[in-house]
Amino acid sequence: MAASIAPRTFSYWALDHENEEQVLRHGAELSLRYLRESATAPPFPPRAAIAKARAAAMRLPDSPSRPKDVLAELSEIYAPATVRSHSGRYFGFVHGSSFPVGLAAKWMSTIWDQNTPLFALSPATALLEEQVEEWLVDLLGLPKESAVGFVSSTSQSLLTAMFVARQSLLSRLGWCARTKGLRDAPRLQVVLGEHAHGAVRRALTIAGFGEDEFCVVRADEQGRLDPAHLPVLGPNTLLVLQAGNIYTGSFDPYDAILPEARAAGAWTHVDGAFGLWAAASPQRRGLTRGIEGADSWSADCHKTLNTPFSCGLFLCRDRAAVRSAMASSGSYLALGDERNGMDYSPDMARRCKAAEIWATLKFLGRDGVAALVERLCANAQRIADGLRNEGYEVLHDVVFNQISVRLENDDKTINALQYVQQEGIAWCGGGVWAGSKVIRISVSSWRTSEDDCTQTIAAFGRARKAV
Ligand SMILES: Cc1ncc(COP(=O)(O)O)c(C=O)c1O
Repeated sequence: MAASIAPRTFSYWALDHENEEQVLRHGAELSLRYLRESATAPPFPPRAAIAKARAAAMRLPDSPSRPKDVLAELSEIYAPATVRSHSGRYFGFVHGSSFPVGLAAKWMSTIWDQNTPLFALSPATALLEEQVEEWLVDLLGLPKESAVGFVSSTSQSLLTAMFVARQSLLSRLGWCARTKGLRDAPRLQVVLGEHAHGAVRRALTIAGFGEDEFCVVRADEQGRLDPAHLPVLGPNTLLVLQAGNIYTGSFDPYDAILPEARAAGAWTHVDGAFGLWAAASPQRRGLTRGIEGADSWSADCHKTLNTPFSCGLFLCRDRAAVRSAMASSGSYLALGDERNGMDYSPDMARRCKAAEIWATLKFLGRDGVAALVERLCANAQRIADGLRNEGYEVLHDVVFNQISVRLENDDKTINALQYVQQEGIAWCGGGVWAGSKVIRISVSSWRTSEDDCTQTIAAFGRARKAV
């Protein structure tokens, strides 16, 4: 427990009681110890560690504690209850690790502690964002004029996308939502695939579109939206497609949908949280054929690119539309002619995320990003093949980095999942696909090695025998 300090001997404002550098160095040492431990620790925290963190809940102390003790307590109580993002055998949700260079860049920019809405508030961040924008648009093969908003997640990117789409569609229909609001606005038609991620539905409902209004389009057995079932699209249509289904990794057929949608005047958005990165790999690029024909896209760097959390992207071909939807006013905001980050996302105050994205991209280069995507896909294929040999059914074609498997019935599948989770060698989650319970394995970490795949397959083999 952190020892409290007698008030008479302590000042919050004088640093002489503990040198600033020592505090930071202590935090760094504890972090490095954590990283070393993560190599062998179970990917998901043991129950006892979670119980210890829960039991540590306390009333906010009245008196101060020494920074060194505070950090030691954080490390001792809460670090053991973390999910080990740095494990190569964590396959839950869609969860990348971060490269050391990205983590270090995040450390550095944390010390810079930049606020990033305006060039005037951080020239460095504004220039980093401008550079990363140019790199990403090129790397992902999107229209050259596209703008990038740096947001916290795909969820926030989707929300931004819905606001931009709605304002743009209404504007094309002669309605200025900025001045007239939405109450009497022309009605928009929302079209999405039956397997749209929950974050898409959530963004739509937060933006004020009711679920009963959604036109939900049937998908094929791989989870790809089936163009034969699309309704008639028009200039009032907001169509949301997907790049990367979380159960099967499948991609919608953009080249069969987007040219017609565009000709009809619809606004199209693609949720590419992890899958948009396929466009950066010559081997997988075919999965995204035609995707550049959309109006906007969402992606996360903290998923497939393996930057630290929380690095989401909102990308849009129509820079003016984004700026118009996000525009803000205030005479004290020195807007100037430079690129101001707040024109491209709903945030004003925001930490600098571009440093870790810049560092990760600079470290990997174009070839490295492609190699990373291919590594994740190859490991997914390796695990899928191994699980088939262990008697699991893989429910789809393995085209990217997501796999869903099952055993003979739901009970066996759930029991096998629980066995793997409790054994602690690997961690993955479950879900429902094609009407049955499945185990979802998301291969999203650069750290996953061949040996991690072998250990994971063996854990599934033991699980199968145990159920
Ligand atoms: C396809 C898809 N869309 C949206 C999301 C939500 O992303 P985030 O957690 O960054 O908000 C995810 C998360 O895994 C996803 O896989």
